[in-house]
Amino acid sequence: MEFRSEDQAWLAQFVLDELGIVIGEGKGSLLQARLLPVIRQFELDGPTELMKSLRVLRQVEVRRAVLDAMTTNETSFFRDPQSFDSLRERVLPELLEARRAERALTIWVAASSSGQEAYSLAMLLQEVIPDLAAWRVRIVATDISSAMLERTRQGVYSQYEVNRGMPAPLLVKHFERRGAKWAVKEDLRKMVEVREYNLVRPTSPAPRADLVLLRNVLIYFDLPTRHQILDRARAALRPDGYLVVSRTESLLEGRDLFEPAFGGSGGIFSPLRTSPAGRLAS
Ligand SMILES: C[S@@+](CC[C@H](N)C(=O)[O-])C[C@H]1O[C@@H](n2cnc3c(N)ncnc32)[C@H](O)[C@@H]1O
Repeated sequence: MEFRSEDQAWLAQFVLDELGIVIGEGKGSLLQARLLPVIRQFELDGPTELMKSLRVLRQVEVRRAVLDAMTTNETSFFRDPQSFDSLRERVLPELLEARRAERALTIWVAASSSGQEAYSLAMLLQEVIPDLAAWRVRIVATDISSAMLERTRQGVYSQYEVNRGMPAPLLVKHFERRGAKWAVKEDLRKMVEVREYNLVRPTSPAPRADLVLLRNVLIYFDLPTRHQILDRARAALRPDGYLVVSRTESLLEGRDLFEPAFGGSGGIFSPLRTSPAGRLAS
């Protein structure tokens, strides 16, 4: 039940081409661990039959399942609480003041995994916008993994998942029991729009946004790809908007596109007005 080295190389290239994700050293065991469940799911004989489905028959469902399996979907509610503190105390107050006349705010959660990040934001917005009903607030959650997008649409989480990062009062306020699980209440679910978006090879325009969250995903890509993604994020952002990355990312690869905001803490960045080519940001 092992992939031949030629198949490993083909798979690594397939994942690089489709997702931009670089599979480095030790790919044999990684591919093995991630793809055995796919082999079982489609009741295939083993790696050889999987490779045939991918390369010869080009079966769309199998290709999609393989790509899904190669994504890392680790996430949690209010992950990296200091970033949420910065959003609550500095970024959102400023943006809400700037958008007071139009009463509209769009937040793009790129690489949203199973939805905890988007719903954390929805809870935060309910807290900081007392007259929320008078605003048009959109949280657009995108990812490449169809399984993760479906989970976000459902908004149903296990006890373990809600225990990770969610303060108990918020669980009681925004979730209802569904058997052994917890479902996001309808008012919160309606704030989140879910759609597929490949950061590396987008086939549709990115949402025009006041705030873009691009957290814990750039690490999977090589430097030129990161730069392209950041360039597109900058183009999607309104000039006075903000980009949030994970607090551990310096964003050195995008220093011609963004500059640290609020003293550089919390992973918050502002778009620079001129691009490397010198054209003005829209
Ligand atoms: C580690 S999770 C991060 C989730 C969330 N942003 C957070 O910080 O908790 C990385 C996500 O990136 C997604 N991803 C990987 N490659 C992608 C691509 N090319 N386009 C869009 N999403 C991608 C994965 O499917 C996964 O859900």
